Amino acid sequence: MGELRGTHVPVLLERCLELLAPALGRGGRTVHVDATLGLAGHAEAVLEAHPETVLIGLDRDTEALAHARVRLARFADRVHLEHAVYDELPDVLDRLGYPGIDGILFDLGVSSLQLDAPDRGFAYAQDAPLDMRMDQTRGVTAEEVVNTYAHPDLARVLRVYGEEKFAGRIASAILRERERGRITSSARLAELVRESIPAPARRTGGHPAKRTFQALRIEVNRELAALETALPSALDALTVGGRMVVLSYHSLEDRLTKAALADRVRSKGPVDLPVELPGSGPTFRLLSRGAELPGEAEVAANPRAASVRLRAAERLDPNATEQGRTDRERSRRRVKGMHQPGTGSA
Ligand SMILES: C[S@@+](CC[C@H](N)C(=O)[O-])C[C@H]1O[C@@H](n2cnc3c(N)ncnc32)[C@H](O)[C@@H]1O
Repeated sequence: MGELRGTHVPVLLERCLELLAPALGRGGRTVHVDATLGLAGHAEAVLEAHPETVLIGLDRDTEALAHARVRLARFADRVHLEHAVYDELPDVLDRLGYPGIDGILFDLGVSSLQLDAPDRGFAYAQDAPLDMRMDQTRGVTAEEVVNTYAHPDLARVLRVYGEEKFAGRIASAILRERERGRITSSARLAELVRESIPAPARRTGGHPAKRTFQALRIEVNRELAALETALPSALDALTVGGRMVVLSYHSLEDRLTKAALADRVRSKGPVDLPVELPGSGPTFRLLSRGAELPGEAEVAANPRAASVRLRAAERLDPNATEQGRTDRERSRRRVKGMHQPGTGSA
């Protein structure tokens, strides 16, 4: 395990701690899952703030786990570190014998460890073999995707996961290059992307290869499929009063998070009944208004925070009729408001 490069600053740390505190600090032993442990910046702060809390830290990257283990060594008696994809959470909880959890954090995407590693191929700015697997023990590499996908599949990956306007042109350039030989390096790929984009477009929107590299990383790691499965399982695992916080870094992740929460915070009963039918009320309440954005000071101190979107929710007590009634009234007022001319919903 090499030395860590650069300084890793956990994103929206104070806000995450503030949101998790009522769930983790409610007395007795509580259980917190860090679904994306990384270098354990958030996890360490949670363990420091909550001396009674047990941490279950997941990461699919064995190198990240090794660093986290060192960082969290002084908490070893209340920490479980697991090499797992976060959609395996139910199995992990079963195996460890924790039927319910009190808090869970998803800090999505890649870590600075992965981005800065000269040999892992995540960064377009450094030449490296085209790997991009977060879990280097299994799965296909970006090199295999780039050298084997048919044109329509490659173009779809770039368009959907990278929101790349020039997906078709880039895919064509990749296929032409493949006829000359295998594309094996991140620098060659970045150069190909740059050459396929019209000159005026190269001058806007950051590095021309940024979107292609994001798209390949999402495809290689099946990131969105894992997230789509993991979010409902995480919500199911939370006890009453338990809280989930999600930090997303692009619109596709944030959209999945918003949809998973929307499904739990709305009533499934008829709109015009004064009380909820048993089992039809909301099971969660939102703790964030829309997606929360970082403040200017946070972005200035930590450029990685620039694109973050935070959403959070708390599990409701199904027997708390007062809460159910209040939420129901609020939800009815909202529905009524949506039918007034000139009003809408965020
Ligand atoms: C942004 S970093 C987390 C940083 C961490 N919050 C900290 O303070 O150090 C994201 C981490 O999540 C891991 N990761 C991403 N997708 C994952 C998944 N589907 N399952 C498990 N770990 C994942 C990555 O390997 C990476 O180490």
